[in-house]
Amino acid sequence: MSLVTENLGKLYGDTPVFRHVDLRVEPGEFIAIVGESGVGKSTLLNCLAALDDWSEGRVLHNGTDLGTLDEAQRAHWRRANLGFVFQAFHVLPHLDVAQNIGLPLLLLNRPDPAHVRALMDAVGLEGLGARLPAQLSGGQLQRVAIARALVHRPAIVLADEPTGNLDPATATRVMDLLCAQTREHGASLVLVTHADAAARRADRVLRLTADGLRADPAPT
Ligand SMILES: Nc1ncnc2c1ncn2[C@@H]1O[C@H](COP(=O)(O)OP(=O)(O)OP(=O)(O)O)[C@@H](O)[C@H]1O
Ligand SMILES: [Mg+2]
Repeated sequence: MSLVTENLGKLYGDTPVFRHVDLRVEPGEFIAIVGESGVGKSTLLNCLAALDDWSEGRVLHNGTDLGTLDEAQRAHWRRANLGFVFQAFHVLPHLDVAQNIGLPLLLLNRPDPAHVRALMDAVGLEGLGARLPAQLSGGQLQRVAIARALVHRPAIVLADEPTGNLDPATATRVMDLLCAQTREHGASLVLVTHADAAARRADRVLRLTADGLRADPAPT
């Protein structure tokens, strides 16, 4: 029951972004990935989500080789197993806040407005359910994206700089929520971050380089 990459590589033409990435994320494990801008952190998360194609190696979830799935099967796999917080949020502009957050549940035929409301309160969006994304601040949008990633209690949460737009107190609150998903529900959390406060809470901190992932000393 784990998310694994074996010798994963991503190239554009002949130019590698990264190669030789070996990662194993166990259920209930929180891994922080750090690395310089442009090294391929978002690309790696997209490969883990089977949203992007890789050039070398394999991505496996519970023994299923995601590379063997077609687009429809990948979409089904994501819907059932994955919560993704995109660096650029990707909320749907014509749906209000509550509809955006509730969308994963709707797609699974499990609508649960009370749970959506509870999650909105937990990320500090109480009372904003009827707003459209264009009527929110950057930090509020980020929290919509986080609530949407957690609403269906996925087994895997992939989060790209999820606290980048938040003040320290709100960032702590959001990290509490992400950690609760791993600690209480046994989900795997892979978090890309530049924030020491977030990396400090991880079980392991890994640094992405052009030639793979290395253990990084946790910030003190
Ligand atoms: N279509 C493309 N063709 C060629 N190179 C690309 C293409 N798309 C992305 N890249 C390159 O891939 C690399 C990895 O990008 P990615 O967004 O994954 O970096 P990142 O580590 O997430 O950076 P940041 O910390 O700034 O978010 C970058 O150097 C980028 O220029
Ligand atoms: Mg990025």
